[in-house]
Amino acid sequence: MKTTSAALRFNISTECKITKARSAVMKLPHYDVKTPVFMPVGTQGTMKGLLPEQLENLDCEIILGNTYHLGNRPGTDVLEKAGGLHKFMGWNRALLTDSGGFQMVSLLQLAEITEEGVKFKSPYDGSETMLTPERSIEIQNSIGADIIMQLDDVVQTTNQNYERNKEASERTSRWLDRCLKAHKRPTEQSIFPIVQGLLNNTLREQSAKEHMTKDVNGFAIGGLSGGEAKDDFWPMVSLSTGILDKNKPRYLMGVGVAIDLVVCVALGVDMFDCVFPTRTARFGCALVNKGQLSLKQKKYETDLNPIDKDCTCSTCLNYTRAYLHSIVTVETVSCHLLSVHNIAYQMRLMRTMRENIENGTFPAFVQQFVNEVYPNGQ
Ligand code: GUN
Ligand code: ZN
Repeated sequence: MKTTSAALRFNISTECKITKARSAVMKLPHYDVKTPVFMPVGTQGTMKGLLPEQLENLDCEIILGNTYHLGNRPGTDVLEKAGGLHKFMGWNRALLTDSGGFQMVSLLQLAEITEEGVKFKSPYDGSETMLTPERSIEIQNSIGADIIMQLDDVVQTTNQNYERNKEASERTSRWLDRCLKAHKRPTEQSIFPIVQGLLNNTLREQSAKEHMTKDVNGFAIGGLSGGEAKDDFWPMVSLSTGILDKNKPRYLMGVGVAIDLVVCVALGVDMFDCVFPTRTARFGCALVNKGQLSLKQKKYETDLNPIDKDCTCSTCLNYTRAYLHSIVTVETVSCHLLSVHNIAYQMRLMRTMRENIENGTFPAFVQQFVNEVYPNGQ
């Protein structure tokens, strides 16, 4: 079976002997990305609180953009004139775009889904718009990201209706065919199918098996970022990675909390994205292994330690918790300083995992990390 194309080569360097973790280099047109990787989310062609050169300095190799937002503003005409989003936003490394449907369903809640596509009222001018699989790919072809996502039919995780879940995962397979057919730049951009089926074993298995019959360069696992209990969500990841081709990258969408990253790397996931590190920075929270420090709390008023004494990011080298407490959520600079730390935290965690996989010490690392997060074995 053909496993790679010019648009994506996935070279696995080390496989963990005990877990399903692996380290690899994913060669994309704009950059060679080391996996497992976390991809920060830049919704509107910017990363909230960070400049592209700062992301590079933080060792970030791939970021995520959103089709739905970029298709509205600046729009495809401007993007095409600019030569794609890379040039437009000044980002030279790899880029991945999500297809748009998920954002509309989760943000607007007004979206109506039919076989044709996702119909919604534009929050920009109130007009009705239809995002079809063809239109999503057309916009993503203009944006020019290295990896693009199929349009999927997304069900709210709180929806327990089996029939609706079944319809959505089967429709996602039909929309995949339409997306593959509409794709005009297959040698420069790889489309990833998205496994759906929420928390139903049979539907998820069918979805993954169906996607496996397609000639694609990688796979995404969707429908699991709605805050499900970990006991429900981790088995679905394991089931999906158990079916998806182990020679191709697997991307778990919308997941970015540290313990989930560690567990899901052990389950064979290679790529993650989440707004969590930058969003939580805007709320004045700094990421640490045990969870988060909420710097607004009065106890930090006189604390002259850095956020994390072992962190080498510019925020931890130059600023104290007391200083951050004094400006947090009042000054935009605090959002910037916390975003630097939070992205540095995510990047360091992924780098540590890659090194442990390569050194054969990944199982011990997972054990130690879990003990630190759940000290009482909870
Ligand atoms: N982001 C987080 N989850 C999903 C999903 O299920 N589908 C898409 N398209 N994006 C996501
Ligand atoms: Zn730091």
